[in-house]
Parts: sequence; C-alpha cells; structure tokens
Amino acid sequence: MSKYNEPVSANITSVLREVRVFPPTKDFSKHAHIKSLSHYRKLYNESIKSPEKFWGQQAKNELVWFKPWKKVLQWKEPFAKWFIGGQLNVSVNCLDKHLETPVANRAAIIWEGEPAASGKPGEERTLTYRQLHREVCLFANVLKRNGIKKGDRVIIYLPMVPEAAIAMLACSRIGAVHSVVFGGYSAQSVADRIFDSQAKMVITADGGFRRGACVQLKKNVDDALALKDAQGNLLAKTIEKVIVLRRACNDIHIQEGRDVWWHREIEYVDAECPAAKLDSEHPLFILYTSGSTGKPKGILHSTGGYLLGAKMTTKYVFDLQETDVYWCTADVGWVTGHSYVVYGPLANGATSLMYEGAPNFPEPDRFWRIIEKYSVSVLYTAPTAIRAFMKWGVEWPKKHDLSSLRVLGTVGEPINPEAWIWYHEVIGGKRCPIVDTWWQTETGGIMITPLPGATPTKPGSATLPFFGVLPEVVDNNGDPVPRNTGGKLVIRKPWPGMLRGIWGDQQRYKEVYWSEVKGSYFTGDGCRQDKDGYFWIVGRIDDVLNVAGHRIGTAEVESALVSNQKVAEAAVVGRPDELKGQALVAFVTLKTGVPALPELREELRNHVAKEIGPVAKPDDIRFAEALPKTRSGKIMRRLLKQIACGIEIKGDTTTLEDLSVLARLSQNEE
Ligand code: WT7
Repeated sequence: MSKYNEPVSANITSVLREVRVFPPTKDFSKHAHIKSLSHYRKLYNESIKSPEKFWGQQAKNELVWFKPWKKVLQWKEPFAKWFIGGQLNVSVNCLDKHLETPVANRAAIIWEGEPAASGKPGEERTLTYRQLHREVCLFANVLKRNGIKKGDRVIIYLPMVPEAAIAMLACSRIGAVHSVVFGGYSAQSVADRIFDSQAKMVITADGGFRRGACVQLKKNVDDALALKDAQGNLLAKTIEKVIVLRRACNDIHIQEGRDVWWHREIEYVDAECPAAKLDSEHPLFILYTSGSTGKPKGILHSTGGYLLGAKMTTKYVFDLQETDVYWCTADVGWVTGHSYVVYGPLANGATSLMYEGAPNFPEPDRFWRIIEKYSVSVLYTAPTAIRAFMKWGVEWPKKHDLSSLRVLGTVGEPINPEAWIWYHEVIGGKRCPIVDTWWQTETGGIMITPLPGATPTKPGSATLPFFGVLPEVVDNNGDPVPRNTGGKLVIRKPWPGMLRGIWGDQQRYKEVYWSEVKGSYFTGDGCRQDKDGYFWIVGRIDDVLNVAGHRIGTAEVESALVSNQKVAEAAVVGRPDELKGQALVAFVTLKTGVPALPELREELRNHVAKEIGPVAKPDDIRFAEALPKTRSGKIMRRLLKQIACGIEIKGDTTTLEDLSVLARLSQNEE
C-alpha cells in the first residue's frame, strides 16, 4: 500500500488560475541551440521512441572516451547501467579536452571573494582552462602522495573557492569518489558522513568568509574526528589524512602526521598526472541528502551517465554559448553546485563564476554588482533568493547595468508567479527567458524545464520534460490522472544521470524510490499537468520539507531534538513562509520536571544547529504536554500541520487519543 496517500489535489490552488504565456522571442530563438517548439518536440519524441539510439549519439558527440561502449543501456529495474564497457575520465572531459582548442586560454573559473565590511572590494581570481588543468593535476598528485587510490572516498568540506572545484576534479582524475559536505553543516554531520562513506581523507580550509565572520571549518573537522557513537567508538576512524587549505583567516590546530597544508603538499609533486581510464559506471561522487526517515542518504552518481546529463542540460537549458559568462549561485555543497557550477559548465568549455559570500553583504546589491562587473550573461538562482531581493527593493538592482544578462534560471522549489514576473521584469528587463528547472539530487541533472529558444513559458510552471525524460502524474494506484488533476510525480523510464543507488544500502534505494509506484521512479513530489501538458510542481508530499531551497527531513530534525536531554518527544512539520517557501515548526514535549521556559526555545534551536547545521534550525518551537496520536500511537502530522498553519481543525479526529491535547496545542501560541 502507498505510504503517501493524502490527496495531492487538496494542495493545488492554482489549477484554474488564468496564466499568462511568454513565448520565446524571435531574436533569441534565431541564435539558440533549439530554435522552436517543434524542433524540441521532434528531438524529444526521438529520445523517447529510441532512447538507446538517441543517447548513444549524444554520448558520442558530447563526450570524449578512451574506449567506446559496447551497449548503451542495461536496465534491470531498478538498476541501470549506461554505456557499458566504455571508459572515460570526467576531468579529461572538463579540462584536457579544451587544451587543444582556443578555449584553453579562456577563463574556466572566475572567483570573487566577499568584500570587507569596510567596503573594500573582494579579492578576485581567474583560472584559465590551462591553469585549472595544471592545478587539478598537481592536486591529484597530492591526493596520490597522501595515499588516495581509485575507489577511495574523500570528504570535501570547503568554502566557495576554486579549490573546491579543483579538489572535485582531482578526485575524478584518479577515480577517487568525492563527497562534498556543505560548509554550513555541523561537526556531527561531517562525522556521520565520514562514517557512512568510510572516507579516508578530509579536504578542508582553516576557514571560510561569511558576512565578515570566519566559518571555523577546520575546527569542525577536528571536532568531527573526535566524535564517538553511543558505544564509544570513534565515528571517523577511517580518516588517515586531512588536507588544509590556507585562507589565513583563523588560527588552527595542526595534528602532526594527520594534517597537512595544501600549499606545502603542492611543492612536493609535479604537474603531470595521467588521467585514470575509468569505467563508465565507476562512481564519481556520493552526495548526502535528506529523506523522510533516518539519517541522510548517500546518493551515488556514476561517471559517464552523470556527466552526459550535466553537460547536455547545461548546454540546452541555458542555451550556453562560448561567449557566455555563466553564474550559478549555488554552493558546491549541493547537487546544483556539482552539476551547474563545476561539471556542466566546464564540460561545455564555459566560464563559470563562483562567489564566496552572502547576497546582501555588505549591501543588498552584491549580486547585481557582480553581474555588472563581469558582464554575467546567464544567472541561475533560487526562488527564495528572488523573494528576498523583492523584499529588499528594486532600488538595488536599478543601481546597476544588468544588460549583459540573456537567460535567467531558477531551481530548488516552486516559484510563485509574482516572483517569476519580478525576476523577468526587474532583473531580466522583460528580455530574458526564464527557465524554471525541476530536478533533484537523485536525478543528477535538470529533468523538467523550458528550453529558452523553444518553449513558451508560464510563470510558476517548470513546463516540459528534457530529452529522454518521461514524467507522469499518477494516482495512488499508479494510474495516470486526467489533466488538471493533482497526483504523484513519477518518472517512467531510466535516464543516464539517474542515481545508481544509495551508498551501502541498495535495499533502501528500492524501498524509497521504486516501491511507491510500481515500475516507476517516485520523486516524492506532488504535481499536476495542465491542458497543454505543462507540469506544475506542488512540492513534497513525503515527510521532507523545503526550507529556502534546502531539503530537510522532518525525521532528522525530530531525532536531533530528542537527542537533547530535556526533550521527551518531538514532531516537526512545515508551514508556508513568504520568504523561505516553508518554515519548520517543532512541537516538543519535555521530560517530567523540565519547565517550558521561553529561553529553552533558543537552546533547542541551537541544539539542532549543533547536531545538523543552522539550515535545520526550527523557526518555531511549541511546547506541548502531549502530542496528538491515533489509538495505534501514530503522531497525527496532518493535524499538527493544520495547527502550525493556523488552520481551523477539520476532518476526522475521532481516533485521537486525547482530544484535550488538541485544544491545548492550538492555544500554545507565543
Ligand atoms: C526537491 C529536490 C535540484 C536542485 C536543488 C534541490 C524541489 C527543485 C524545483 C522546481 C518546484 C522544485 C522538489 C524536489 N524542487 N526544483 N523548479 N520547482 N520544486 O535539490 O535538495 O535534491 O531537492 O526540490 O521538491 O523534489 P534537492
């Protein structure tokens, strides 16, 4: 039986809303890779009708291989293998490939540091493809020198600096499997990921800069390496070496024999490093992401299929041209940073901009200043950022020349039509197509999206599937629902960039993604298709929340809360938030004798930040004497959600164990 059987249609408010259609402009289409809707449809139909022919052709055109594959796809549900027998290397496709072309001396990465609070401009660095290639080869040799071999796992815990990309590419060069951990995550999260991946090395920095402060990355690593499980065993005992990048923002502890400096190690190695010939299915990276139960899952991605997806989507979705300066504002700690800061743009020979710092530091025009300074032509950011810009006011973007922009993208959560229109008018000057791109950590690359020269857009809709992607909206039996009806979003066919499983737990992979709807990949999202076949994503329908574009499992926050000595039970639900999309509301019962003091709220919020990271801090903590449960003892989340949203309680509450609990919960406002 389906685990998620609440009617999705209840959430759909925009079904019958009049929508404005924005057709692609002639000017744009004329020079675009895909020039019309019929051109898109023709290619799309081919990709669905003969996927092996389509993908085989693409893999041949887009990637360089050491050895050609024997078979395009082997599909034994739910396990896919793409380009079987083929051998390639990701770093060769992102770097070496360009060295024989004029791209060699173009900027691969432009990096802009955070400006000082005094207004002193930030540092800037540019790495051409040739320079980046050299740095990657040097660092790949450093990895080898420190004992890393093909297949070993390496944790990357760095700020948004070029070295993050260098470390990732260096791993790919020798076949080590990287797992990037977002710099905002806690020591505990680092330790959990080391333990789960059994990593041998951590690459970190003495610090990162954010809003004028230093983020204590190395200190967190030291703490992580000392953390123990409940039985008293070190969680990170597999770690042999820590490589530390010097930013000189912080005094740190160096443990002899374990910790080495990046800049010193570079001195010992040479700049020649032959690329490993890797099987197409060789693991490229593990990226941890939250699910509806337990600790974050290690999503596993492959070499050939993943890279093809990242490269093709970057090219077609952003209509990437050689003259573009492309800026995806995501941190490399998220999948967006993997596919659209590093691998996708570099595989295309584009210039990828990286910025370390906040969008409103020292002033709310940071982004617009950077766009003007570097003539950024493609911007890819999140709805939550756009809503914040709207709030800060049009005077900030108006101060800058944004005429270099030609394509604007959004990702991470549904974009409300108001934010879409604002983005289009104020940032894009009504001239730039908006691409609202739906995808997930698991999909490796963009799945549902407009193509800017081809697809007429409707504010709030991710529009139509990318090549080779067959999404469908289905009911609880897995049958397609009629148009304009809500349902579960599933993907009916394997695609090259799909996850290859959950690291160390293929059973869980089957259960989470392949048992909800028979024969299909279950996304966890609710969706509807309109009369034109356009997809409108409603948001998660499992117990995963989307807070400011960050994915947070309610179970994870609950277990962080109950790990506090004062807490007896906790239930976490989402409520709509104007800025962040969703906000976290935690209902907490305390152990006997612990008084529900107002300052305990802050203490518990900080406790969650320490356990997971500041991104998971509940926005609202409500103390309760008991949580509403069914007779069988299940917490009634639907009810808590309604209370959190301030909705009057309706529906069936007859199975409630104690109706008076409900009355008290509703009154528990600050
Ligand atoms: C979840 C995946 C994929 C990069 C960033 C997030 C939501 C993502 C959209 C969009 C509506 C979206 C979905 C999805 N989501 N993009 N354009 N419209 N919802 O990756 O952390 O794996 O989260 O983000 O709910 O399932 P992620």
